[in-house]
Amino acid sequence: MASPLAVNWEEELLTEGLSERARRAGAVYTGPGAGGVTQQRTQIELTGGVPDPVCLPIDDLIVASESVLRRDGHDALQYGGAQGFKGLRDWLADHWTKIEGMPLTAENFSLTGGSAHALANVCETLLDAGDTVIAEGPSFPGSLRTIRSLGATIEQATLDADGLDVDALEGQLADLDRRGVRPKLLYTIPTYHNPTGATMRLDRRHRLIELCQRYGVVILEDDAYGEIGFEGAPPPSLYALARGRGVIKIGTFSKILATGLRVGWVQASRPVIDALVAMRFDMGTSPLVLRTIARYAEDGRLDDHIRDLCEFYGRKRDLMENELRERCASFLTWSSPAGGFFLWLKLNPNVDTERLVAASQKEGVAFVMGRRFFAQPRDDDPNYIRLAYSNVSEDKIPEGIRRLGRALEAAARPE
Ligand SMILES: Cc1ncc(COP(=O)(O)O)c(C=O)c1O
Repeated sequence: MASPLAVNWEEELLTEGLSERARRAGAVYTGPGAGGVTQQRTQIELTGGVPDPVCLPIDDLIVASESVLRRDGHDALQYGGAQGFKGLRDWLADHWTKIEGMPLTAENFSLTGGSAHALANVCETLLDAGDTVIAEGPSFPGSLRTIRSLGATIEQATLDADGLDVDALEGQLADLDRRGVRPKLLYTIPTYHNPTGATMRLDRRHRLIELCQRYGVVILEDDAYGEIGFEGAPPPSLYALARGRGVIKIGTFSKILATGLRVGWVQASRPVIDALVAMRFDMGTSPLVLRTIARYAEDGRLDDHIRDLCEFYGRKRDLMENELRERCASFLTWSSPAGGFFLWLKLNPNVDTERLVAASQKEGVAFVMGRRFFAQPRDDDPNYIRLAYSNVSEDKIPEGIRRLGRALEAAARPE
């Protein structure tokens, strides 16, 4: 029987009418993957895993976009296909062939709306409700939400300062196998991890590939920060070590160029890319933006920019660590990250987290509480906080850490 649109139709739609997927994802998402931020608006924010505004190459992008519109305006302003502008895929193929040490072509790449979309595209193509995905705990909450929204179960894998704990994983895979569960994907951020900053050791990378191949689990390698290293090149990617067998890698221009471009990519074997492209119903990523990035990246300009970024963020990491050593060392411990945007701080047991949240709000410093990064937080886990040195300006870092130090002091119980 027909039922007319209710007067309170929005309320009805957004309660009874909400899709299963939206319910699973939770309706209160407020930011790039985070939530659990100690304060939304504050003077000094150590929250966002985004580039420092001084690093945005605005003038160069103006020149590049104008040149694209003048020279290729007709193509730039029409649909460009679901796999994305070949000129940029050629650039990626060239760039990553050098880094991965294996031949890659434009057919190994598809361009997406950031790596968040790359991950969603992979998950939508491969996951059904009820499937199991292994993900590090902690991990990037934006990815966990996407996986969970599809009805997949997340099995949390542990990690330490050397990346995913492969011994524990072996036991976990054997246990799942005994229970008749074959995980479909293992999602990992092996290099300059978000939030821990950890980089998976080379021997662990080899073991991880061997284990996943043995148990028939495809690896989804998130390399959002892999090019922002401060101590030389990181170990080869899982993709390179496995020569692409059983590994799908996702990357992004967000951290090396600008989040607002919303461009990332999937790197995989050709049949996998073809399947992912066939699952695109969004008419592709903006040809104007893809062409602008390609024009900007020409002649090694993006490579030079990445080199500058590594030096710049390395300096910010050092500055923040020096301040932490001076002002906060009696309340927490951490491992120094060799790249990326974050410091992951383990609070001493005598720091009361509720009091820390209140005190940091009073002091005017914001960071993200660690629990938000766990798919399955446990009450007896130690408490962590994540600080981002990427987005805060260099001159505010000392004051930000001074405020954190005072907040920690206010939150610490006498031992
Ligand atoms: C590990 C990781 N993956 C993916 C993303 C998504 O980034 P984007 O969609 O901007 O490429 C982020 C953003 O913070 C991230 O930290």
